Amino acid sequence: EKGGYDHFMLKEIYEQPRSIADCMRGRLDASSGRLVVGGLRDYMNKFQNAQRIIITACGTSWHAGLVAEYLFEEFARIPVEVEYASEFRYRNPVLNENDFVIAISQSGETADTLAAIELAKSKGATIFGVCNVVGSSIARATHAGSYTHAGPEIGVASTKAFTAQISVLTLMALKLGYQRGMIAETRYMELLHELETIPGKVERALQLNEQLIKIAEIYKDARNFLYLGRGYNFPVALEGALKLKEISYIHAEGYPAAEMKHGPIALIDEEMPVVFIATKDSSYEKVVSNIQEVKARKGKIIAVVTEGDTTVKNMADHVIEVPSTEEAFVPLISVVPLQLLSYHIAVMRGCNVDQPRNLAKSVTVE
Ligand code: M6R
Repeated sequence: EKGGYDHFMLKEIYEQPRSIADCMRGRLDASSGRLVVGGLRDYMNKFQNAQRIIITACGTSWHAGLVAEYLFEEFARIPVEVEYASEFRYRNPVLNENDFVIAISQSGETADTLAAIELAKSKGATIFGVCNVVGSSIARATHAGSYTHAGPEIGVASTKAFTAQISVLTLMALKLGYQRGMIAETRYMELLHELETIPGKVERALQLNEQLIKIAEIYKDARNFLYLGRGYNFPVALEGALKLKEISYIHAEGYPAAEMKHGPIALIDEEMPVVFIATKDSSYEKVVSNIQEVKARKGKIIAVVTEGDTTVKNMADHVIEVPSTEEAFVPLISVVPLQLLSYHIAVMRGCNVDQPRNLAKSVTVE
């Protein structure tokens, strides 16, 4: 049942080239410029004219929502708010018929997300679900939705569901941006073509496994980890930290790299591994100076960089090279080595990777 892998989590990490392709299958055909997000059809008008997009979710799904905030604002130019469902539902939020709410959930059974949906519905908003489990409570409670088609995810730590969620949200953002006239035809075609290359690039990122085992050996006994990224890689930093803490029980925090100066920098010493996601994108130079700041304080630097990078190579203790892609698609690739790093550290520490203590696959109580 684990298909020859030691754990479901590892199997699911390795399934990602296929699960991302499955998610795009039937929806995207770059050569003909065809992009169809089935669930959106009847609500495209509402979506296109929304005053605001509100995304609500918990945990890893909330991280996918943060990536989507960047995507929707960049491509569709509609303001986005990303809300923890547990906070949103109790805050008496300002909501109306012109708001388009997107609820993201792998299981479709998360109690807080479901309650947030019911609340938004009662205020007249349109609710769109991005779920993995077909026929789940959230899929049924929403007005419309798109499934992620990642297949069953058994490991408590979410991996392939996360990249599938981002894939669906990326398709939605591109469709919306194009329909609203915010993306020029040639640029749109370029983006669609690049999106089709993602499964192959994720496949290449998986080939980093041996290197990540070596890095895991070195840092498996660390007591703390810091994960830093900017822009599209900020949510990836949060996700990397969550993956590590939930399965290895090492304390880890994710931060936007620039926020480091406002507190976390005090934690840095020669004992502190700091994982930077420093791919070549619009915030690259800024991240490089953040790396220098950590180095000056003797922190141990593990950096996820774009293939061929030389600047960071000269500064970091370890560099992990991932294939380059469009800035907006980077999270789909840059998260993969972080999933593998957490997995190997947890295994080396003797942790129950697929069923970490105190956690359930779906949190059906608030
Ligand atoms: O099923 P959902 O996507 O609604 O679950 C939300 C969170 O409980 C979930 O992502 C949790 O954070 C995972 N264990 C993270 O790996």
